Amino acid sequence: MKKLTSKELRNFYLDFFKKHNHKIIPSASIVPENDPTVLFTTAGMHPLVPYLLGENHPEGKRLCDVQKCIRTSDIDEVGDSSHLTFFEMLGNWSLGDYFKKDAIEMSYEFLTSPEYLNIPKEKLYFTCFAGDDNTPKDEESYNIWRSLGVSEDHLFYLPKENNFWILGSGIGPCGPDTEMFYDTGKAKCCEDCNPACDCGKYLEIWNDVFMEYYRDEKGNLTNLKQQNVDTGMGLERTLTVLNGYDSVYDIDIFENLKKKLEELSNKSYTDNLKSFRIIMDHVRTATFILGDNHGIVPSNVGAGYVLRRLIRRAIRHLRKLDLYEDSLLKLSEIVINEYKEVYGELEINKKFIMDELEKEGIKFGKTLKDGERLFYKVIKHLEGDIISGEDAFKLFDTFGFPLEMTEELAKENNLKVDVKGFEEKFREHQEKSRTIDAGSFKGGLADGSYESTKYHTLAHIMLASLQKMFGNDIIQKGCNITSERIRFDFNLDHKMTDEEKETLTKMVNSVINEGIPVTLEEMSYEDAKKSGAHGTFENKYGSIVKVYSIGDYSKEICGGPHVKNTNELGKFKIVKEESSSAGVRRIKGILE
Ligand code: ALA
Repeated sequence: MKKLTSKELRNFYLDFFKKHNHKIIPSASIVPENDPTVLFTTAGMHPLVPYLLGENHPEGKRLCDVQKCIRTSDIDEVGDSSHLTFFEMLGNWSLGDYFKKDAIEMSYEFLTSPEYLNIPKEKLYFTCFAGDDNTPKDEESYNIWRSLGVSEDHLFYLPKENNFWILGSGIGPCGPDTEMFYDTGKAKCCEDCNPACDCGKYLEIWNDVFMEYYRDEKGNLTNLKQQNVDTGMGLERTLTVLNGYDSVYDIDIFENLKKKLEELSNKSYTDNLKSFRIIMDHVRTATFILGDNHGIVPSNVGAGYVLRRLIRRAIRHLRKLDLYEDSLLKLSEIVINEYKEVYGELEINKKFIMDELEKEGIKFGKTLKDGERLFYKVIKHLEGDIISGEDAFKLFDTFGFPLEMTEELAKENNLKVDVKGFEEKFREHQEKSRTIDAGSFKGGLADGSYESTKYHTLAHIMLASLQKMFGNDIIQKGCNITSERIRFDFNLDHKMTDEEKETLTKMVNSVINEGIPVTLEEMSYEDAKKSGAHGTFENKYGSIVKVYSIGDYSKEICGGPHVKNTNELGKFKIVKEESSSAGVRRIKGILE
């Protein structure tokens, strides 16, 4: 039988709902615009929350789309036959327009119509919400399925765990759902085998959620202003199920990636399933994160950390196939080609994607070499089979070797890691850096590392340069440093022009290139003020203060620590200049 392709499924879906008067909207960003509680868009409805709550959508009340989603909660499972960190979700929405009857009728038509998915009716099974103390049993949906000719033995009532949908945070629009399953034809695992069973006989392909409630942080349900429909059909999963594949990695989307990886490594997919799958999944997700117009780059926090983890894990598995970091770029290029027609931003951001993958690859190549060497040194002297929290932390602190990598290497060597011990060390270390930090800038040194210290010195050069450019009224409004970048806030009444940014960059770099020693003096607060030292959070200081000077370029009251000489910093580059709040500008900068 002819296999269904990803392109066909996307087109079928959008075409069908367009015919039913839905407006096709483009995928929203993979990073939610209005939800700071999560790092990534996890479902098609995520970007539509304000409209489900009642705001008017510019495109109307009936919408459909293919949304880019990322779910990383099962990242460690990637490598098996079904888990992915990135997926596309097909969805159609009614924003206070149609409700259960039309939604179910359209779903059934799309699934069974010869023009669309053409699934034999006897292969389909459906579940409805069984009801609980707060919400009634969804007999209406059940009866609608019955009215379409679905027999009782293809219909099941299931409890809240199965048939009530809400975002992972547990707060927001929600409601009972009805789910559609495909019978794979496998034998029943037991007498009671039903779609809730995970034996693999019934696989879910679509979910229609009837969002009529709002759940608050206490768990109370109230009625929404309007009754909505939110549906979700995972593209990769549905292709796998309908094509009868054993693994999601058998769908057409992965074909070229697989071929390229086989060609580069001279190894076969079937002999190296786990590494191939991890590489394909992680490169695909990393490419989508980098290609998303948000400028997210690998880092040690938030979405940047997830990105870093994906890239680094992909590299580790490339090494298992005797490949190096440069293969990342070749594979990412395949991903871009595969998707550029649907997600044009990937092509537009291609250079950014390639540059960031290359940079992270180089960084990690070094980390790996150093970290793996130390890892094997540690296990050589190991008594028992547990790597101590202290050793795991040393790997992390000294070499930036992530805990997950230590755990993974440990597993490969039949060892365990004392994760609790690691976490304790990590906390202790944080306390220590906070103490070091006391008396220095708010949010100053994040981790006490040498890399962060460089950024701390950079902050002084930046402030002095900005004062020379715009006058002594410029003060530092905030500063947030990681080992990867600085975020520096200061007062200025206008957006910096390109020329101003260039001047600042040149000034900072010339101070760096001059190799000016950074010196420390301790003196009374009064003397420090008299000497013209700047101090941003003055009331925080005691009577004896530390004053750091960079030649006669900069003089600041500050708790330190700092580098010894400006030539240790490398090259300063402004990544972004933006508004932070009224009258406050924010510069994101890096040292290369
Ligand atoms: N929001 C529903 C889901 O993600 C459709 O399954």
